[in-house]
Amino acid sequence: MTADNADTGRSLHFEIFRYNAADPDAGPTMQHFYIDETPYMSLFIALNQIRETQDPSLQFDFACRSAVCGSCGMMVNGRPVLGCRTLTADLPGHIRLHPLPVFKLIGDLSVDTGVWFRDMAENTGAWMHTTTPFDPDTREQRMDDELAQAIYEGDRCIECGCCVAACGAANVNPDFKGPAGLNRVARFMLDPRDERDDADWFDIISNQDGIFGCLGMMACSDVCPKQLPLLEVYAYLRRKALTARLTE
Ligand code: SF4
Ligand code: FES
Repeated sequence: MTADNADTGRSLHFEIFRYNAADPDAGPTMQHFYIDETPYMSLFIALNQIRETQDPSLQFDFACRSAVCGSCGMMVNGRPVLGCRTLTADLPGHIRLHPLPVFKLIGDLSVDTGVWFRDMAENTGAWMHTTTPFDPDTREQRMDDELAQAIYEGDRCIECGCCVAACGAANVNPDFKGPAGLNRVARFMLDPRDERDDADWFDIISNQDGIFGCLGMMACSDVCPKQLPLLEVYAYLRRKALTARLTE
């Protein structure tokens, strides 16, 4: 036995939400599992160990294991986190796992964030709106470094859904664009290549499903694993909404 797989002396008690969509009559339950903690054990490692040694039917999602793909969001003791970058050493010995709320439940800890993010992208027009025809012979346009950096900040979102799960408004209003949606809007608003004007932006964000639906609790900012500057995003959008109103 090497130092890396020797146990830490701590037994972990996992209480995991179970739901089989193929057998809806069975209803949701909580199931208990016990494993020995090993050094540097992440939730990814722990859940795989449970699936391999105790219950092969356990459903959960992981792909990159490095906080890049955004597929492993889950509620850990009531807080949305990425399972792949959460170490059991940072958690108490009793760990309760639930799927992220708001998103369509597939089974157990697995949710379909893709449906929500696709709807959000369609509702916000999350693509470059331009009437300028593509000309492969045109020279590249230069962009101010600071502006390019601000756009890049918005593009760092990995669509994990943690902010949406933590958001009070998104939990009660399925049409709310959510922190990730508002971040996406700001990203295109900043981009000078997007030719939408103030009136277009006003229609998208100046309503209860947009920036005025935010309850201001800011849980989104606390849980975002990429530390996106969501508070600055909302301030920017509110200023833009006001500007659009003044120029109507
Ligand atoms: Fe995840 Fe942060 Fe993007 Fe929300 S804004 S989906 S928490 S990376
Ligand atoms: Fe990709 Fe966690 S597995 S972000």
